[in-house]
Amino acid sequence: MEGKAGTSLLLHGVSGIEADRVLLVGLGKEREFREKEYRAAIATAVRQLNETGGFDGTVFLTELAVRKRDVPWKIRQAAIVAHETLYRFDRLKSKKDAVRRPLRKLTFCVARRNELAAAELALAQGVATGAGVELAKDLGNLPGNICTPSYLADQARQLAKSHGLAVDVLDRVDMEKLGMNTLLSVARGSHEPPKFIVLRHSGGPAEAKPVVLVGKGITFDSGGISLKPGAEMDEMKYDMCGAASVLGTLKSVAMMKLPLNVVGVIPSTENMPGGAATKPGDVITSMSGQTVEILNTDAEGRLILCDALTYVERFDPQCVVDIATLTGACVIALGHVATGLLANNESLAKELIDAGQEAYDRAWQMPLWDDYQEQLKSNFADMANIGGKPAGTITAACFLARFTEKYQWAHLDIAGTAWRSGKEKGATGRPVPMLSQFLIDRAGIAGVSGGKRKRK
Ligand code: BES
Ligand code: MN
Ligand code: ZN
Repeated sequence: MEGKAGTSLLLHGVSGIEADRVLLVGLGKEREFREKEYRAAIATAVRQLNETGGFDGTVFLTELAVRKRDVPWKIRQAAIVAHETLYRFDRLKSKKDAVRRPLRKLTFCVARRNELAAAELALAQGVATGAGVELAKDLGNLPGNICTPSYLADQARQLAKSHGLAVDVLDRVDMEKLGMNTLLSVARGSHEPPKFIVLRHSGGPAEAKPVVLVGKGITFDSGGISLKPGAEMDEMKYDMCGAASVLGTLKSVAMMKLPLNVVGVIPSTENMPGGAATKPGDVITSMSGQTVEILNTDAEGRLILCDALTYVERFDPQCVVDIATLTGACVIALGHVATGLLANNESLAKELIDAGQEAYDRAWQMPLWDDYQEQLKSNFADMANIGGKPAGTITAACFLARFTEKYQWAHLDIAGTAWRSGKEKGATGRPVPMLSQFLIDRAGIAGVSGGKRKRK
């Protein structure tokens, strides 16, 4: 064995070793062994163990040195990567190509006994994050005919029941009473009833202000009357990945029993054409009272988010983070590597960027300068819902910024990172790792979990 990265070799009956088998994993050049290479090595080990009929395995790779990364980081990442590697979505196939004897148990090693307590906490965090990612992937991968707004609401109810969360689901009549007209304007073309989901984890003192997560829940985005072209339109079933990441993160937060209050809010509907659908040129009054000229019905994410962002004022939030597959422009700007981040508060932006670095689920900030607001001018309403071709991700965030002036707010555009296209098509579960880490850090137990970073 040469030791090239990505290679492995299974040995049987090695003398002097109690284990039945020993799996060697190539790591490549020592000088080049960093975070990415560490994750790849764990993935190779887990994949091989799973495919060779091993019931359980003990992983020593977690003892390797990774530059600037501590033991908790290595354990957390190992758990997340193990989940990632073993993930399958075959529930819609009549014949499953199941592994005959799948891996049941993994043990991770640390080099010193005094590292054990921190490693155990990190393992619990990694397992919770992995479970959250898995839920987000499952929901994302389900097609629009199954994963409807009502299905998301049922999933939220089930999650609440199994994990001790509180849940509320508002339906169309409730939304009408609240004046959520921009949200409802998106739902007009669809036969599926819209749902507005509120999930609560109360791990902190009752008087502690909550962190609020708002996820875009368009269960299928056809574009509406401004119909999308046909190619790859199936991928618009992923337009609820923001919502899925909110459900996934709440699951992970509940599993970790984080000592803070978190509210998850999901506005959910389909975006379809139809006789009653909203038309380009229509003017709608949002819940905030601001009026919007809808010049393109395909810019629907911001229309459901703006009412949700007004609604969450009632929680007197510590901060609000929205997560949305909002703009194709974000895919052009950042590709499939970084999530787009825009915020009206620099320290909140920095917290999210740091959490993303720590979780290897990274975001990159773009400017939210007022200069861009001009592009949203309308001759007939307070604003238009589109800002033209230039800086599409920024003008979308500028639109949302008009509804978030009362609190600290950050926006994550996950259009490029929530799923992969092509042969490996599938949801990624991002940004559940970033958000879980962000909340771990907010919960103030960063001393044990997050390495060197201090709480501000
Ligand atoms: N859900 C889409 C954004 C999207 C498109 C995400 C492709 C990932 C891949 C969103 O609702 C949308 O259609 N946005 C429009 C906005 C435009 C009309 C201003 C877009 O990006 O084209
Ligand atoms: Mn759209
Ligand atoms: Zn959309």
